[in-house]
Amino acid sequence: MVGWILKKILGSKNQRELKRLMPIVGRINEFDEQFKSLSDEVLKAKTATWKEELAKIPELDDQWKRLDEILPEAFAVVKNAARRLKDRQHTFTVCDQPMTWDMVHFDVQLLGGIVLHRGRIAEMATGEGKTLVATLPLYLNALTGRGAHLVTVNDYLARRDAEWMGQLYNFLELTVGCIQHDQEPDVRREQYAMDITYGTNSEFGFDYLRDNGMATTREQQVQRGYYYAIVDEVDSILIDEARTPLIISGPATISTHQYDKWKPLIEQLVRKQNMLCNRLASEALEKFEQGDVETGGRLMFKVKLGQPRNKQLLRMMEDPDKRRAVDKAELSFYQDTRKEELFALKEELFFTIDEKSNEADLSEQGRNFLNPDDPNAFVLPDLINEFTEIDLDPSLPQEEKDKKKAERQQHCDAQAERIHNISQLLRAYCLFEKDVQYVIEENKVVIVDEFTGRKMPGRRWSDGLHQAVEAKEGVQIDRETQTLATITIQNYFRLYQKLAGMTGTAETEAAEFHDIYKLDVNVIPTNRPVARKDHNDRIYKTRREKYNAVIKEIRDCHTREQPVLVGTVSVEASELLSRMLKREKIPHNVLNAKFHMQEAEIVSRAGQPGTVTISTNMAGRGTDIKLGASVPDRGGLYVIGTERHEARRIDRQLRGRCARQGDPGSSRFYVSFEDDLMRNFGAADRMTRIMERFGLEEGQELEHRWLNKSVETAQKRVEQRNYLIRKRTLDFDDVMNMQREVVYTYRNETIDSEEPRTLIYEVIDEAVPAKVQEYLTAGRDEEPNYTGFLNWVNTTFPLGLTKEKAQFDTRTVDENAQFLIGKIKDAYERKSSHEEPTAVKSLERYIILNAIDRLWQEHLYAMDALREGVYLRGYAQKDPLIEYKTEAYDMFVELMANIKNEVLHNLFRSTSNLQAFENFLATLPQFLLREHAPAASAANAPARGRQLQPVGAMAAVAGDGDGAGEMTLDLPIRRSMPKVGRNEPCPCGSGKKYKNCCGRVA
Ligand SMILES: Nc1ncnc2c1ncn2[C@@H]1O[C@H](COP(=O)(O)OP(=O)(O)OP(=O)(O)O)[C@@H](O)[C@H]1O
Ligand SMILES: [Mg+2]
Repeated sequence: MVGWILKKILGSKNQRELKRLMPIVGRINEFDEQFKSLSDEVLKAKTATWKEELAKIPELDDQWKRLDEILPEAFAVVKNAARRLKDRQHTFTVCDQPMTWDMVHFDVQLLGGIVLHRGRIAEMATGEGKTLVATLPLYLNALTGRGAHLVTVNDYLARRDAEWMGQLYNFLELTVGCIQHDQEPDVRREQYAMDITYGTNSEFGFDYLRDNGMATTREQQVQRGYYYAIVDEVDSILIDEARTPLIISGPATISTHQYDKWKPLIEQLVRKQNMLCNRLASEALEKFEQGDVETGGRLMFKVKLGQPRNKQLLRMMEDPDKRRAVDKAELSFYQDTRKEELFALKEELFFTIDEKSNEADLSEQGRNFLNPDDPNAFVLPDLINEFTEIDLDPSLPQEEKDKKKAERQQHCDAQAERIHNISQLLRAYCLFEKDVQYVIEENKVVIVDEFTGRKMPGRRWSDGLHQAVEAKEGVQIDRETQTLATITIQNYFRLYQKLAGMTGTAETEAAEFHDIYKLDVNVIPTNRPVARKDHNDRIYKTRREKYNAVIKEIRDCHTREQPVLVGTVSVEASELLSRMLKREKIPHNVLNAKFHMQEAEIVSRAGQPGTVTISTNMAGRGTDIKLGASVPDRGGLYVIGTERHEARRIDRQLRGRCARQGDPGSSRFYVSFEDDLMRNFGAADRMTRIMERFGLEEGQELEHRWLNKSVETAQKRVEQRNYLIRKRTLDFDDVMNMQREVVYTYRNETIDSEEPRTLIYEVIDEAVPAKVQEYLTAGRDEEPNYTGFLNWVNTTFPLGLTKEKAQFDTRTVDENAQFLIGKIKDAYERKSSHEEPTAVKSLERYIILNAIDRLWQEHLYAMDALREGVYLRGYAQKDPLIEYKTEAYDMFVELMANIKNEVLHNLFRSTSNLQAFENFLATLPQFLLREHAPAASAANAPARGRQLQPVGAMAAVAGDGDGAGEMTLDLPIRRSMPKVGRNEPCPCGSGKKYKNCCGRVA
């Protein structure tokens, strides 16, 4: 009852709204009448005049106001042009088929056009000519020059409609384009540049993702904004397709196979090391018992380096005396004078583990163990020297040189990857303990929050560590591909300033359109009264009985030459029917929405006498079915539905395939109690009771209009449920959507920026103080970590600061930040002054984009996992959405900070090209001299090539730590290795070996 009243009100609301639009239709027709006397030229000229006028209006809102004003006249221009084409019997080809223009907009079509222009959904029955309706608002909105889009369900329809309606646009001197799946970016860009562009939702969506998530320059982007879109078959696109997001995925950046490959060896290595450490620990204990505290402490320290979680060690550490002995040993080893000894000590182990910095390093022994034939497999090659040698080789032509360099570079990268994998595995084995840092659940590694002890399903350690732990535990390692970019259809279409839609069936989903897209539905009356007869459903006990009845009905139609269109809900069902028909020797066509163009052609002939066409619900949608000459007398096209779909909308769509434009036609659905809908949601019980009462026999059917209602109630229930699911998906995606917007905006800002350096400086201004804060703010039980900070500074920037020079402890945190920012910018200015300005700009953009892309992809991956994970928490009485939101927010904050840190990290490690890099190196000695000995002049600069050597030497000297020279160089590590021996102390003064410090892989 309530529903009925509601419908009355809604119905009359719709009528009232349409009534208000009727005068506009009148005005359009008046203009059309006037225009009849105009010459083609004068009519066409209106397009250019309006375009010019609108181009002068800067604000979009004002442009819209103006569009509203000119709407009647502009629509009339389109209608008038259509008439001219019809009068001339204009012929053309559409998808290689000859055609003649035969349409002039009906009044209801004008009405539909106004509704579309207003950013609403026009529900117009199938066959009412929505394709033509769209020409009106597309023409009008394209006048702004911002690009109007028409979205179709498949490539074939996009092309058909662009070519078909293109006749009208071209006549009016507007350009029209069409996006097809196989187009290259250049072609796509041209299509988007047109006034009007047709294409499918996925092509539009993917282009958006590629433009915003992957293109690195403006030139690579193909779209030019999201101004106005009309979505054809809007229910299908915004509701049915909305369940699966668009995803661009690519191969995972981390090669997971390596973890598998190295696992057995690392396992052995760890076992060996543990045995060694156990032995050392026992020895230490003995020494302590003998009273040799010093040796004991030394041995314990060694265990600490090799196996920080060694049980005996931990037990000994509980004894204050022994603990003191270890601390003493540690302290003494870190003294400058004993550095050599420390290295020797480390070399006695297979690898060392630094718990604090969470790092693991192989020793010579360890490398030998892993690859006795080639211990160098775990050392980065001396690339710069190799390059120099290649360059200096006079026998090699330039081409050959480049090739060789590329090879060496590749080799170096592979090496770096291997080292990274091994070091992650070592960490996984030595620093991460099952049931402490993580647990295994359902064959997954689940991180345990170290502060709360709470499991964090879905979270992943980054940088390959998670995979390493997975390899260690023998659970499934990460999938191979990863999401590079993703968006839901809903969120893509929300980008548009104005969105409109059209379909034959929107009314049942009006609430969803309103809630999610702010789209209201207007139902437009048909041009001619609908003559279709919708029969009551026929209901059977079993599927078998149902199909038998369908086949019998088809045979009857076939005999009397009435065409039948049989709709199925699945490909499986259409194949079953097809087999049954073959047995009956009834010729028929089967369509599965696979080959749109061919299927469209078959469907278009489905109205010929005696044809039988079986089709799933999307197949051939959008294609007109014209009736054969004798068919109207035989009752027109007969549509048989073999099952009620979950959504009423889809059933209405199917019925609408017949009786188009006032044609005769009829429809009937066949239902059985075994159908999914009836079993799961139907009032099956009630129906069974009815059947029993009526004493339904084998093969007998039920038919009553009350029963139709029961079926519809079941459908409404499913619709409601599906809506909630979609809404939920969207709630989740909204979180991601906000993040995506921030990231994409930042990305585009970077791409568009004329002065990318300002962006780089912004990063410095924000990230450096954060780091200073992190290291130097004294916490409750923490001292400012000056050494750590200095170390970070020196491994990130080539400032060569020493403790004495930096004097961080004499300044406040803010002062330190300012001090450092000044130094960094200064150094950066110098670095880039040696490079070609445009190249530097691209490089700067690249540094930011690269950081964004790499980390954003990792983030997407983690978000995916988080989303899967939070559902598990649903059991713990927590709302997964809230959990998801909170964690996603934290992860996002972390992401943004990481992006900035990565930019800092790469700032001095990148050059615009090798040449520039060498130039940079070449000028460095002068720079050093200039900085510290102003007398030296540029003339001192030695010839290029030779200089590589001095730089390294300088760096080594400079870093000796006592102010001999301040400038040390943190070279781009992947590309170069300055001439410091790998086992020599690092020039940065950290006390570590060079290879373990600045000479390490980033
Ligand atoms: N104003 C008109 N005058 C004459 N014929 C028209 C007119 N408008 C549309 N038609 C014809 O109606 C048929 C159906 O048009 P169209 O395919 O655009 O319908 P539709 O509303 O998009 O249907 P569907 O819901 O199936 O996609 C076409 O053959 C077209 O030529
Ligand atoms: Mg259509």
